[in-house]
This record gives sequence, structure tokens and C-alpha cells, in this order.
Amino acid sequence: MAVKTQPAQPGSPLATPLPRVLRPRRATPADAVRPTRAEVNLAALRHNLRVVQRAAQGARVWGVLKADAYGHGAPAVARTLERAGIDGMCVALLEEAIELRDAGIRVPLLVMGGYYGQAWGEILARDLVPVVYDVGQIEALAREVRFASSEPVGLHLKIDTGMGRLGCTPAELPALLAALGRHPEVRLDGLMTHLACADATDLGAVDEQLARFTEATRVVREAGFDPKVLHAANSAALLRSPGSRLDVVRPGIALFGVAPCEGAGIELRPVMKVRSEVVALRDLVAGESLGYGWTWRAERPSRIATVPMGYADGLHRDLSNRGDVLVRGRRARIVGAVSMDLTMIDVTDHEGVSVRDEVVVLGQQEGPLGRDAITALEIAGLTSSIPWEVLTHVSRRVPRFYREP
Ligand SMILES: Cc1ncc(COP(=O)(O)O)c(C=O)c1O
Repeated sequence: MAVKTQPAQPGSPLATPLPRVLRPRRATPADAVRPTRAEVNLAALRHNLRVVQRAAQGARVWGVLKADAYGHGAPAVARTLERAGIDGMCVALLEEAIELRDAGIRVPLLVMGGYYGQAWGEILARDLVPVVYDVGQIEALAREVRFASSEPVGLHLKIDTGMGRLGCTPAELPALLAALGRHPEVRLDGLMTHLACADATDLGAVDEQLARFTEATRVVREAGFDPKVLHAANSAALLRSPGSRLDVVRPGIALFGVAPCEGAGIELRPVMKVRSEVVALRDLVAGESLGYGWTWRAERPSRIATVPMGYADGLHRDLSNRGDVLVRGRRARIVGAVSMDLTMIDVTDHEGVSVRDEVVVLGQQEGPLGRDAITALEIAGLTSSIPWEVLTHVSRRVPRFYREP
């Protein structure tokens, strides 16, 4: 893909220092002294892409890799998906798009968050596709194109059809179209919207939003524009609502193997497993307590294992005395308060546990005592959360290991 210009030049009225990925450096496998790690299964990722491609029924797939690919590590995920034939990728931040281009990703990259600061030059320099939704953005981009003497730049216009978050409202649309008409430096390549209720049992709200999107598309075409790429569907919509698939679909969570709602995407395979190991064992007599605040008390002689993972790693404190982990293939209850770096589990009924045994916090385990899985959905249910948050909360202290099983 041709790079058209250099980053904004020092003389440019829009020049700013090169945006960087502000996320602090993540622990790498080489840093891993502690046995706590996230394993990212690249074969499962490719499998999920095939599931999504089949469900898309001819629509192109632009995977959503924002927030460091939902915590899985954007560069490695992007390289795997690009080699496996994904058509494009979407991120929230300009910095995230820059990270992917720096990682060698060549497919179209859509920057959805709509915040470009003064860094419009990066859109041109990195051949990115900006999403815009107000007149000021169109004028700023056109100015940058003129300054760089670049060819016209393609953009996607976001229409707010009911999410109430980002996008121009149908009432604002004529002013945006007028601005686009005044600025031949930019080209309207795509129209998009985002669905608020694609995981609801009743798809009425999806249909309502799609109807508003169809009407907005009609207005755009009547004004003489011909956007070639229409898109609306996130994972839930693409799996459940054929009418939402349009030209491109934008799945995120499904690529990472989490069904976006009950009954959709049952063939998806979880991509991330989070595991640690037992680092200490102790025996408590009945009546003894443990952990900050002594929130748990042994009702019988108990064997307790300590795991070097805590809330600073993304193990939610709400799992204290409620959540399970897997040891030797069977569930063990988290006991006492999850602390910053360490968590205790009750292994009284787990015959043969010893230091260095694997502890699975998220994912599947098979062992001498059985086979089970802790899902992102289960953790979300115990922590008033959603799987999206569970995955993105695995912190940067936890190194990601990429596996090709
Ligand atoms: C605009 C937009 N499109 C698509 C997605 C992907 O959603 P999901 O992860 O539910 O597939 C997101 C994620 O929140 C989004 O913000």
C-alpha cells in the first residue's frame, strides 16, 4: 500500500510531535520470572476468523483490534489475522493504528474513535482510514491534505442511529454533506453506524437502527455521493442479524472466542488462557482465618494454596470468597480477599496438590481430577461485568505467550 506523504512537517500549522502508543510497556515472555502468564492460542484465533467469515456470508471482515486487541496483544494478533486473510482492521485510537502499521500490517486500518488531536498528518503518512462525524474534522483533514499536496484521502462518515455516543445525527447530515462537497481533498468512501442492542433477545432495536441507517444512506446518495463501504455489525449483529451484514462487518469479541450472547457463536474457541502456579501450601486448623480483613475462616482443617496473581494482574477483587480457579483439572474456591499480587485457594479436597501445580484462572484445564473451564462469562457474572472488560483487564504485568498448539 503506497505511503503518500511524510508525517506533518515542522512548518505545518498542524504539526505536532509524532503520536506514540501511550500504553506503558507490557511484560514480555523474556521478563517472566513469576509463573503467571496469559497464553494466546493463535490457532483458535484463526479458527474464529473462519467462523466469522462463514457467518458474514460474503461481507468483508474488518476485525476490531482496539485496546491492544482486547488484551491479547495487538501486533501478534494482527499479524496472525492478516496472514489468515482478514480484509481489514478497526481500532479506537490513532496511536493503536500507528502501532499496527509499525508492526508491518498492510490491510486497511479504520480509526474509529474520532479523536485525531492535531495529528492529521499521521492519517496521510500511514495510509489510515479516519472515521469523522463533524464539519471541523472534515475541514482539518482537508487542510492537511492541501498542506501535504497529497491525493484526496478517503474517509468513513459515522452516523448516530441511536447509540447516542459518536456520529452525526440525521439532522446534522446535510451540513456534513455540504462540507464534503466543498472539500475535494477528501472522499466519502464509507458510511458506518454502531448498534446498541445487538445482543438483546429482541432484535427490534437493531432493525430500527438499520432502518435509520438506510434512510441516512439514501440522503447521502441523493446528495450525489457514492460511498462504497457500508457497515454496522459488531459480533452479535453479524452472527444474528442477516440484515446488518452489509458490505463489511466489524467483529471484536467473537474473534477472541467469546460468544457475544447466548445462542450465538457456539462454535467459537476461547483464545486466551490465564494461568499461574501454586507457590506455597499451608495447613490451617479449624477456626483459623486468612487474608486481609480475615474475611474467610476455616470451618474444618484446610489445605490452602497461594497463587502469585492478584488484582494488579486483573484478577478482580469481587472474586474474593466467590470465584473458582482450576487445579489438577478440578475447581478450587478462592478464599479470603484477593490481594494485589497474591490469592489463596482452598485445595483441601484436591488430592496430591503440590507447589508448581498449574492454576488456571481463565480457560480450560485437564488433569488427574477431571476437566473443566472458567469462562470470561462466568467471571463477568461474578464481578458485575462483561466478558469484554474481563479480557481487557488482564494487566500489562502479565506477559502474553503466543502458542501454536
Ligand atoms: C464501533 C465498534 N464497532 C465494533 C465493535 C466490536 O464489538 P464486539 O466486540 O461486540 O464485536 C466495537 C466494540 O465495542 C465498536 O466500538
